[in-house]
Amino acid sequence: MLLDVQDLHIAYRDIEAVHGVSFSVEEGELVSIIGANGAGKSSILNSLMGLVPARSGTIRFRGEDISRIPSHVRARIGIRIVPERARVFPRLTVRENLRIGLYGIHEPAKEKERLAWLYELFPILEERSSQYAVTLSGGEQQQLAIARALVSDPKLLLVDEVSMGLMPKLVDQVFEVLQHLNRERGLTILLVEQNALASLEISRRCYVLETGRIQFEGASEVMRDDPRIREAYLGL
Ligand SMILES: Nc1ncnc2c1ncn2[C@@H]1O[C@H](COP(=O)(O)OP(=O)(O)O)[C@@H](O)[C@H]1O
Ligand SMILES: [Mg+2]
Repeated sequence: MLLDVQDLHIAYRDIEAVHGVSFSVEEGELVSIIGANGAGKSSILNSLMGLVPARSGTIRFRGEDISRIPSHVRARIGIRIVPERARVFPRLTVRENLRIGLYGIHEPAKEKERLAWLYELFPILEERSSQYAVTLSGGEQQQLAIARALVSDPKLLLVDEVSMGLMPKLVDQVFEVLQHLNRERGLTILLVEQNALASLEISRRCYVLETGRIQFEGASEVMRDDPRIREAYLGL
């Protein structure tokens, strides 16, 4: 198991937002956690990245409990996040934003190779490489945020609501890139989404989160056909 989370509780001051969730992600899997606004999706991803502390529980990455180690160390061992709402550095150029993702890579040759690969994956970023990130469209900023997380060759990519605010066509495009990275590159991905249908379409397994608790889990294919899921979460 690449990631194994047991009984994770997350609280903000004295208010608990996540009440003991357990889930896992195998190497090479694309797993999704779906849930409504406020369910606790970002809290979970941020706590995996070490940006929000876990109140209790364990987060095992490659067998080691990482729940108490700082965020930059988690980044160094191969965990990267695509934060909610892209969050690129608006006053830096596209290339500068990407170079920030390279933090920790000290071999110039490798750096060149990674950038070339990313520009192949997201051609628009090469075209816009000298532009300030603030001048990019929402979809382009989202691509930049993904590229920045990928530049360091992570082992586990955490993706926070990449579809938010994007037109349906762009959602499809971004999800296709994630699927490609997973299938062709073997990248392990954990994504959280309100967009339940799209997530069930690209993920292999899925967890349904409701106000800080996991209510259902299973193979995405099976869940797509489950009448309870269809009615309650897919609006079908
Ligand atoms: N920084 C914070 N301080 C206090 N409460 C927070 C904070 N971030 C999130 N919350 C609360 O935690 C709950 C889960 O939020 P969040 O993880 O952002 O959900 P989601 O990403 O599923 O929309 C919500 O009730 C939210 O108000
Ligand atoms: Mg969120």
